[in-house]
Amino acid sequence: MTTAPRTAPVEWYVDPARWPHERAEIFAKSWQFLTHESALAVAGAWVAETVAGFPLIAVRGEGGELRAFHNVCRHRAGPLVREEAGVCDGALTCQYHGWRYALDGRLRAARDFGAAADFDPREYGLLPVRLQTWRGLVFVAVSEAAPPLADLFAPLDQRLRDADWSGLQIATRRRHTLACNWKAYVENYLEGYHVPNMHPSLDAEIQSDKYDVLIEGRVAIHHAPPRTVDTIYEGLWAWVWPNIGVNVYRRGLMMERMTPLGHTHTRLDYIYLTPNGESVPAATMTLSDQVTAEDKWITERVQENLAAGVYKFGRLSPKHEVAVAAFQDWVRESVGP
Ligand code: FES
Ligand SMILES: [Fe+2]
Repeated sequence: MTTAPRTAPVEWYVDPARWPHERAEIFAKSWQFLTHESALAVAGAWVAETVAGFPLIAVRGEGGELRAFHNVCRHRAGPLVREEAGVCDGALTCQYHGWRYALDGRLRAARDFGAAADFDPREYGLLPVRLQTWRGLVFVAVSEAAPPLADLFAPLDQRLRDADWSGLQIATRRRHTLACNWKAYVENYLEGYHVPNMHPSLDAEIQSDKYDVLIEGRVAIHHAPPRTVDTIYEGLWAWVWPNIGVNVYRRGLMMERMTPLGHTHTRLDYIYLTPNGESVPAATMTLSDQVTAEDKWITERVQENLAAGVYKFGRLSPKHEVAVAAFQDWVRESVGP
């Protein structure tokens, strides 16, 4: 007979002291999804994002290589760019006082700084961040502790085999902000138990009673047989530690990044990739918006209830919430009980 593990304690979701540890022990030490290669097509093209409190920038160099840096000038910590994406003229120029950095991160010119015998510009290059790609998707990691990206994604590679993602481009994006702790959203993402109650439109597409979530490495693979052959939910639906959703559709995929904004809010970024950037079918977008609105409503109510102070802990279903239990184990391994 299997057991029903206890849920994580309520403090995980409401204690502001936990977030700095999660940021250092989970987010700094894991791969974070940034963008798709096609958004960095030419030399000088850059993409900037703040991921779990780290302002980062990725840029394509003159020789075609992709690099990532902290988007933090070495002078007095100004940002290198103002927008989320663009193309620069061969150098990144700090917005504050105009220091210029080569695309490989070296400080090329400290504008009008004045002569100083003890200042060596070679010691003030941009601080590098690891960057690796998987099937055209660009990931960054702030610390050396993150395992090779290919190892993390091996369970998905096995399933995708020779799926051709070469012509994919970003077709559209969606951004949602949720008033809940990031773990409340991830846990909701990791089980299909709530689908019949919370998502009638999704329940009409899939056989929720056969919904299954399989753990392989640090990947959770969802499986729910479609009710009809003509469903948009054919494909692969997965989650990768600690905050990446990978939803593969018949034509293209949707990458979902679940970014903590402190301990009380979570930002969701959905990035839709299709062959040559062709538009995403309206039915897909409508269902996605609907399901997200339902998940936003429930996770925000759960957060309010956790904060109310009556709930201490609950129990996890051995049938439906195995991935939630695994996720809570991994969080415990990283940050403690
Ligand atoms: S902070 Fe970047 S040039 Fe001053
Ligand atoms: Fe949901």
